[in-house]
Amino acid sequence: MVQERGMALVTGASSGIGREVAIRLAKRGFRVIGAARRMDRLNQLASQYGNIIPKKVDLSDSENVEALCRYILEYPKPISVLVNNAGYSIRGALEDVPVSDVRRLFEVNLFALIRITQACLPGMRKQRNGTIVNLSSVAGKFAFPMSGVYAATKHAVEAISDALRAEVRPFGIRVITIRPGAIATEFNEVANRLTGDLMARTYPDYKPLYESSGAAIGRIFSQFTIPGPGIIADLIEEIVLSETPKPVYTAGPLVKEFLEPRLKMDDEAFDKYMAEKTGLMGLQV
Ligand SMILES: NC(=O)c1ccc[n+]([C@@H]2O[C@H](COP(=O)([O-])OP(=O)(O)OC[C@H]3O[C@@H](n4cnc5c(N)ncnc54)[C@H](OP(=O)(O)O)[C@@H]3O)[C@@H](O)[C@H]2O)c1
Repeated sequence: MVQERGMALVTGASSGIGREVAIRLAKRGFRVIGAARRMDRLNQLASQYGNIIPKKVDLSDSENVEALCRYILEYPKPISVLVNNAGYSIRGALEDVPVSDVRRLFEVNLFALIRITQACLPGMRKQRNGTIVNLSSVAGKFAFPMSGVYAATKHAVEAISDALRAEVRPFGIRVITIRPGAIATEFNEVANRLTGDLMARTYPDYKPLYESSGAAIGRIFSQFTIPGPGIIADLIEEIVLSETPKPVYTAGPLVKEFLEPRLKMDDEAFDKYMAEKTGLMGLQV
């Protein structure tokens, strides 16, 4: 017999890390609301696991987010585990990224996370118990060139999580930040699709930068095997079940190569380190 646990909400449950987390929590006896846009994927998951409830939401649309929040607030049982996982990335030098795309990215990666957290907190406070897991990234603590806006959303997730952890600890609510390195999911494919062909539309000035950093980052990625989403989902399952989770967890490639040096070096040393590693050191155009 699987022990019956409380309600969980996992955003981005249609794919990658979120899908794996929803399955693990369902197997552990949670009733899991799995939210995303692709209902075919969610319905398939619900047909395999009777305790997964599919919920359609487009987190880039504030009315959709409000409807999800009303659903949470009116649900007969409070959410005891919230996994703020939905997210994506777009790429490009800052001059190449339309600000409307930046706004949309912030809507999904940050504002929806804030709003959904606000909707779950009254129930958690009432129970004096709850776990909030926020998906940041290694890029929550440094920024790759050509990926600054994604890193900005994740830096914001880090700040929100740090402050919230202190604000709700007195109510018995735990806030945990996860910083995955590179993980093999649809994440890369989505970023490529949304970004399109940057080389075709960038200013000629930027072409050598894209070429040089693309080649350097390609070399770094060729040095390791990229693990699947299971390593992060296993970690989240362990955290949810733990009596004493740590505030922050990291896992996957890029942690040793970038996050650890960032946490050890001063700003000047890390700036040089990044320029070298990303193939941009000394480049003059
Ligand atoms: N994979 C990596 O290398 C990596 C590294 C560091 C951090 N992360 C973070 O890990 C989290 C999960 O990413 P993943 O790797 O599992 O990527 P993924 O396979 O692409 O999954 C992303 C999930 O987010 C959902 N989503 C995206 N836009 C949405 C929107 N507008 N409304 C509702 N749901 C939306 C997608 O669902 P629908 O498309 O069905 O809506 C999907 O379920 C993200 O926050 C990401 O930033 C990933």
